[in-house]
Amino acid sequence: MSMIEWIDLPNLGDDRGSLMVLESNKNVPFKVKRIYYILDAKPDVPRGFHAHKELMQLAFCIKGSCNMIMDNGIEKQQVRIDKSNIGLMIPPMVWHEMHDFSEDCVMLVLASDYYNEADYIRNYDIFLERVK
Ligand code: TYD
Repeated sequence: MSMIEWIDLPNLGDDRGSLMVLESNKNVPFKVKRIYYILDAKPDVPRGFHAHKELMQLAFCIKGSCNMIMDNGIEKQQVRIDKSNIGLMIPPMVWHEMHDFSEDCVMLVLASDYYNEADYIRNYDIFLERVK
């Protein structure tokens, strides 16, 4: 089974503009407890470099783009996030890195729990130990 899962949102927009909707436990496959967004990221400064023990997340570039490296300890894949209505699921125990942010990138992330540093694995070797 692929570790890459995309969530497609229908565009409910019309000639006035685009409109996308996210609903907990409906098109978002978890209960959303936290939302954060990243902007003004530097193209040459990657972010992430961690995995979560339990957290589920769904990430969109609602403007611009970035590349995401997804690594479950067995396979590693790079995907491009560049559509305001197609989000990438970031499941637990997937090491992820965001690279190559466009200048205009606005990344919106929905998360299944409150911020909890104890849920992070920020050391790659410890991540590999835990997935094996
Ligand atoms: P960090 O994990 O470095 O961000 P990224 O994964 O995008 O590289 O987070 C930066 C700081 O912000 C770090 O001190 C933790 C804090 N933070 C919160 O307090 N709450 C949050 O919801 C998030 C995502 C981060």
